[in-house]
Amino acid sequence: MYQVLARKWRPADFDELVGQKHVSKTLMNAIESGRLAHAYVFAGLRGTGKTTVARILAKCLNCVNGPTTSPCSECDACTEIAASRSMDVMEIDAASRTKVEQTRELLEVVSYAPVRDRYKILIIDEAHMLSKASFNALLKTLEEPPPNVLFILATTEIGKLLPTILSRCQVFEFRRVGTRELTEHLRRVCTAESIDVSDSGLERIARAGEGSVRDSLSVLERVLAFCGQNVQDEDLLRLLGGVRAEVLIQWLRGLATRDAGMMLQVLDGVIDEGHDLLPFWNELVACLRDLLLIRAVPEGDDLVSRSSEEAAALREAAEGLGVEDLTRAFQMLADLEYALRSSSRPRFVFEAALIRLAGLGSVKPIEDVLQSLAGGRAASRPTVSAAPTPRARRAPAADPKPQPQKKNPAATADPAARLIEAVHDKQPMIGAILEQANAILLDGQALVVSFGKEDAVVAERLRDAETVDLLRQAAERISGAQVNIRIESDGGPEATAEQPAPPKPAAPDTVAPETAASKPKTRARARPGRDELLEQARSEPGVKKLLREFGAQVVDIRPLEVATPEPAADVEDQE
Ligand SMILES: Nc1ncnc2c1ncn2[C@@H]1O[C@H](COP(=O)(O)OP(=O)(O)OP(=O)(O)O)[C@@H](O)[C@H]1O
Ligand SMILES: [Mg+2]
Ligand SMILES: [Zn+2]
Repeated sequence: MYQVLARKWRPADFDELVGQKHVSKTLMNAIESGRLAHAYVFAGLRGTGKTTVARILAKCLNCVNGPTTSPCSECDACTEIAASRSMDVMEIDAASRTKVEQTRELLEVVSYAPVRDRYKILIIDEAHMLSKASFNALLKTLEEPPPNVLFILATTEIGKLLPTILSRCQVFEFRRVGTRELTEHLRRVCTAESIDVSDSGLERIARAGEGSVRDSLSVLERVLAFCGQNVQDEDLLRLLGGVRAEVLIQWLRGLATRDAGMMLQVLDGVIDEGHDLLPFWNELVACLRDLLLIRAVPEGDDLVSRSSEEAAALREAAEGLGVEDLTRAFQMLADLEYALRSSSRPRFVFEAALIRLAGLGSVKPIEDVLQSLAGGRAASRPTVSAAPTPRARRAPAADPKPQPQKKNPAATADPAARLIEAVHDKQPMIGAILEQANAILLDGQALVVSFGKEDAVVAERLRDAETVDLLRQAAERISGAQVNIRIESDGGPEATAEQPAPPKPAAPDTVAPETAASKPKTRARARPGRDELLEQARSEPGVKKLLREFGAQVVDIRPLEVATPEPAADVEDQE
């Protein structure tokens, strides 16, 4: 009869148990010294050995050779326990027996002397599911436990067990099993079952188990159903939704060189191959996490579950990235989860994030910056970056492959949504940027796209003449009239989605259709006093240096003698 791997490979004794050394050691000591508790709680993640250890302990106590730490697994007691049909070892599933009468009955049975063996053992699985009344009945018994009775409560949710119960039990926390140990275990199983699979393949399976031995065996089972005994890496990747190491390496190179185009191409390729976005996102986050560990701590290599070749290749690809860079990239990607899960266009969200990642300048130690300021040796590359160079511009303006469009723009009522769709059709990258806006207001005569201050770099990308044209064409097609374009990135109160600012034609940011191509400098003439002052301040060598070294912005300018300054004139995106 075919037996699933997880059942077939249930450890018969403590020696075969993977991980959980703290549990097996303490229990073995207790057995040897005859100092067993009356009740144990086995708590922890599913599939980490709670039921298994409960049975091993029962065998240890009731084996004909017992009490022993190495039961024979052959005597009646041992075989009956393994098959869960022992008269003296009762396993109940609390989930299906929550009624207090049933619990009372059981507790009564427990109070009789063992039928044949040394101990009467009651294993209560999913103990947190017991009703309150059942708990109380159990509590009474635990207060005055009958001799030679042992209770084992197994639960995945220890928080739901009453403190009064817990205080009468010895509690063991079953831990997640590390990927390395899992991989070794899977290797033993595969060797015994004549399954042919690569080391990195096994690691991938182990990782998919997320610390649960049962889950990793179930994944292996699924893989076998798909591939047979001969498991190819390619098949495995397809099945588990993973990407090849080369893909991660290519992506890391893009990140290290701030090449948005390269990262976007990798994403495009992954989607083309039919991968889902979330698993890919997951891989990127895991990859950055691993790199961080490798970089940040000396024993990092031991903490990551990658083959040493793979780890070395990743490290090499991420050569130019420091711990701070990796931390920031990790943070930005990790923060993406909600948006990816909830957006109707997760791809755009992903793309925009990659563009932003490319826009992050690399972090330079502050000492270096100060030194270069003091020594007058002007640093030529962007440094500590609040508003870094928009590297995203290096990205190809349009996706090489046109994207299949899922929705008919006309079918979407919201003009902003229609605009995004229309723009994404023409230039996916610009569409992705629009997706990041705080608010998009499109009425008869104006299109206002507002970004937060932190998105100034991204906003800047929309201000070039070609893009403004693209936006205008799309907006005019939707509104059926001439439209002025305004890109805001001051993150001010009027830039929020609830209260979009009405378009002010005279505002410095407005790009009127006929001056679309004009640069901020020419526009500055519209408000000579303040703007000229600001311009002067910015060309002042000391200020210039600060702007460059810290990626700072000139926000306001005030005459020294004036006590009550005029309201601030926000000036954005100075680099
Ligand atoms: N520590 C372990 N060492 C070896 N195999 C294990 C271990 N933990 C679980 N397994 C494998 O997983 C299967 C299920 O384990 P077990 O029933 O002990 O898990 P559990 O912790 O009781 O899970 P649940 O919370 O779902 O009841 C076992 O038959 C065995 O194949
Ligand atoms: Mg169990
Ligand atoms: Zn035995």
